[in-house]
Amino acid sequence: MNETAASQPLDPTVTKVDTEGVEFRPMTSDDRQAILAFTDRLPEEDLLFLRLDITEPETIDEWIRNIERGKTRTVLAISEERIIGYGSIHHHDTMWTRHLGEMRLMVGPDFRGRGVGSALATHVFELGRQLELFKITAQMMSSQHAAQNLLHGFGFIPEAQLHDWVIDRNGRTHDLIVMSREVDED
Ligand SMILES: CC(C)(COP(=O)(O)OP(=O)(O)OC[C@H]1O[C@@H](n2cnc3c(N)ncnc32)[C@H](O)[C@@H]1OP(=O)(O)O)[C@@H](O)C(=O)NCCC(=O)NCCS
Repeated sequence: MNETAASQPLDPTVTKVDTEGVEFRPMTSDDRQAILAFTDRLPEEDLLFLRLDITEPETIDEWIRNIERGKTRTVLAISEERIIGYGSIHHHDTMWTRHLGEMRLMVGPDFRGRGVGSALATHVFELGRQLELFKITAQMMSSQHAAQNLLHGFGFIPEAQLHDWVIDRNGRTHDLIVMSREVDED
């Protein structure tokens, strides 16, 4: 994608995708076991960078509670009846950041580089638009280059780099990168 991406509409039908056979649908409480099976299959290098430990059933239960409370909306990517990725938007409608939504994305390693992450980002961005949010933000460790490239392609700009703000599962600290894009730049 290019520098003019921010001026392009985020429409799933125009996103570069090789996602034939991939279904995108909202996550519900019925997906508890399937999402645990997905996170169980994630390799150690992905687990290292997780913001929350989504391999823990309690974390999934909290995630589902947040979906039911309307604080989180999650789109699942499904192939051959298995979850292969997800994209979420998290927002708090009682806080002074209620105009912001935070996007989180994860695609299973075997399915990367085919446009699934871009398609999920497009769906999540559309959810942000439906929620009438002003800005979508994303947070990642400085070493997560694929995510930064993907977001840059969608017109996100770096907002901050916070030195040693996050610590991975091995106890190593990393800089935290915050990126954002206004929803109605189009
Ligand atoms: C980031 C992530 C979701 C991308 O998913 P994906 O399905 O591989 O992404 P896509 O195939 O749609 O690629 C979209 C863009 O991402 C960037 N990208 C993807 N893989 C990349 C890689 N290995 N290296 C550098 N850039 C990469 C490219 O800019 C690519 O656009 P291009 O194909 O036009 O060059 C996936 O790598 C992932 O789950 N990573 C671990 C979790 C994570 O970092 N989440 C983001 C936190 S918000």
